[in-house]
Amino acid sequence: MAITKSLYGELNGVKVYTFTLENKNGMKAEIIEKGATLEKLFVKDKNGNFIDVLSGHDTLEGHTERSDYQGVVVGQYANRIKGGKFSIDGTEYTLTKNDNGITCLHGGGEYSSAVWTGTETSDKSLTFTYFSKDGTDGFPGNVKASVTYELTDNDELILAYNAISDKKTVINLTNHAYFNLNGFDSGDILDHDLQIDADYFTPIDETSIPLKMAEAVNNTPFDFRTTKKIGKDINNTDCVQIKNGNGYDHNFIINDSDGTLKTCAVAKGDKSGITMEVKTTLPGVQFYTGNFLDGTILGKQEKPLTKRCSFCLETQVFPDSPNHQDWCKCVYDKDEEYKSQTVFAFSL
Ligand code: BGC
Repeated sequence: MAITKSLYGELNGVKVYTFTLENKNGMKAEIIEKGATLEKLFVKDKNGNFIDVLSGHDTLEGHTERSDYQGVVVGQYANRIKGGKFSIDGTEYTLTKNDNGITCLHGGGEYSSAVWTGTETSDKSLTFTYFSKDGTDGFPGNVKASVTYELTDNDELILAYNAISDKKTVINLTNHAYFNLNGFDSGDILDHDLQIDADYFTPIDETSIPLKMAEAVNNTPFDFRTTKKIGKDINNTDCVQIKNGNGYDHNFIINDSDGTLKTCAVAKGDKSGITMEVKTTLPGVQFYTGNFLDGTILGKQEKPLTKRCSFCLETQVFPDSPNHQDWCKCVYDKDEEYKSQTVFAFSL
């Protein structure tokens, strides 16, 4: 096991460091302090070559100016909050409306734009911490958040999140990595195999706001209970949900989620043979297929990020739950610890 640290650049006078975790098999994860971003992930393919399975950026300018949340940690509330507002105990909080001027998306972007502080916590793990001031983007509470990245010798990348607030608040942390298991520069992800262990998903309106918590996947393009190609039904615009999401951009409700680690999804790159299993303690996972990428943003090696060049599996609590607090736990008392874990496990 080895960890290396080096200077990546400087943002508004703050030095930004990058860290590399390497395991005994040669698998590597590179994480930068800006956004606690998982920048690169080198995994061995069926030909024995290590390929980077993440799209995204490889310059500070890319990460700050062009980011579509590529690889970042998202907080204080991942996904959408309708109307950019919610209430706790009768007090209404008004949030930054950074999505079409009407919705709060990914907490207004604060956590993902911030420079976190990285420290080595063992010979195979790094912890990144960030303090969010009360009222930032409208969210209550001074919040101390952290994410620990650990790379095991079993080729698992484990992300453990913690947060604690000095005021009752809402918390939903995730990582927004965009995967292409054939390699970041290998075209679209439509021929990847995918299985998602969910009997229900959350249907959305044309502005991506949940219409209700759960709709059955049975007989819809959302049925991934048995493995199918991501591209099989992605253009089925007879389905209003596919139309509303412009493809897949929906929360899946993980079967039998009970707060312990459950496998929620398994994806496989058709060219590389790389399989990724996603496990989480959280109740939901947003499956997003890069529908809004259109080639105008340049990514790694200045190559355009084209439509569906990668996909996300963002483990989370359900979108807009601050406005539906009976859907799942999303409100935390003063000093109550938020804790979750997500594992990305790789094999051939
Ligand atoms: C959302 C998409 C959004 C993307 C980038 C995903 O989590 O579900 O609608 O376009 O993030 O912001």
